[in-house]
Amino acid sequence: MNFTLSEEQLMIQQAARDFAQNELLPGVIERDRDQKFPHEQVKKMGEMGLLGMMVDPKYGGAGMDSVSYVLAMEEISKIDASAAVVMSVNNSLVCAGLEKFASEEQKQKYLTPLASGEVIGAFALSEPEAGSDATSQKTTAEDKGDYYLLNGTKNWITNGGNATYYIVIAQTYPEKGHKGINAFIVERGWEGFEIGPKEDKLGIRGSDTHSLLFTDVKVPKENRIGEDGFGFKFAMAVLNGGRIGIASQALGIASGAYELALKYAKERKSFGTEIINHQAIAFKLADMATQITAARMLCFKAAVEKDEGKDISESGAMAKLFASQTAMDVTVEAVQIHGGYGYVKEYHVERLMRDAKITQIYEGTSEIQKIVISRSIAKK
Ligand code: CAA
Repeated sequence: MNFTLSEEQLMIQQAARDFAQNELLPGVIERDRDQKFPHEQVKKMGEMGLLGMMVDPKYGGAGMDSVSYVLAMEEISKIDASAAVVMSVNNSLVCAGLEKFASEEQKQKYLTPLASGEVIGAFALSEPEAGSDATSQKTTAEDKGDYYLLNGTKNWITNGGNATYYIVIAQTYPEKGHKGINAFIVERGWEGFEIGPKEDKLGIRGSDTHSLLFTDVKVPKENRIGEDGFGFKFAMAVLNGGRIGIASQALGIASGAYELALKYAKERKSFGTEIINHQAIAFKLADMATQITAARMLCFKAAVEKDEGKDISESGAMAKLFASQTAMDVTVEAVQIHGGYGYVKEYHVERLMRDAKITQIYEGTSEIQKIVISRSIAKK
């Protein structure tokens, strides 16, 4: 087992770190306050290859490995978790799913602009009454011969307002349960496809989350992904990889908060000494550093297994479960270490604490991760 990062991985990490410091840090507080999408920054991330990191260059991607993706996600998330979720959804839920399962024509038409960052994509699975219970899709895709007729509502869709292409999961044969579900590529602007209002969120406020409304939207047959009835398996496979992205986002939120807390603890004095010299503070930092290192190792393990072509349902779920709890624990302590300063916007840690919470909810709640992990270990 080798714990040394390659030259290339270190370069990607440094490039992402520099980009986050120079391009994301300015204005991050205002974007959070005003719920402003980082348009210019996302465009630059596309130019840097950060939006299709693992996609083959022949489809517009950067052809990097998954460990590089974890490293870049961590650096971006340390500074701006909103920009990071745009990146994670485009890479893991949209591009990875298309590269693995779409037809050659679909890849040429949709994957190439998405992986090169020319446009961004969204993944629409959740519904008003089907989040964790993903089989209970109420959105229908009726087979009409040459096309499917799409009707229904999707909720909580990241990139919902700014995407150009949407992967939409819908039920074609309700009597077949999960085997009756299909996945489709739907284009923004198609007749009957309406984007609902933006959600006013606790955290990741710079990212846009919308509902999507479909009324008799005609989806051409050639826009179905994979075989008839493959949609649920497609969604599960995509989410397995997506969980590495969100785990890395959580890792970045935690390490961003930790670095700020460590710096503050070395500077701030109380009772005649820097507060890091008080055991009450030093032990908090020790716990934070240990949890972060463990979370990073779980992210790397899942990333390496993904590149080896292994089943990553268990390792991806473990990484997300642990890293998202780490993000919560570490950000709460980072605010505590900062005292009153931690409670105001200027010091960043309160935003990171708000951003952390969603990592325990989206792309499978922590409770869902435990279902995935426990089913996997029970099979062994
Ligand atoms: N990987 C691969 N295959 C899987 C799988 C996984 N993680 N989980 C289930 N499957 C397969 C099963 O093997 C089974 O296949 P067979 O029929 O061939 O045996 C099939 O899928 C059905 O599985 P289950 O019977 O286990 O299905 P279930 O109804 O009990 O649900 C679940 C399983 C794990 C709870 C699943 O519903 C789930 O993962 N739910 C969470 C969904 C989720 O993550 N939602 C988040 C929305 S996306 C989002 O947040 C995007 C965003 O914008 C950021």
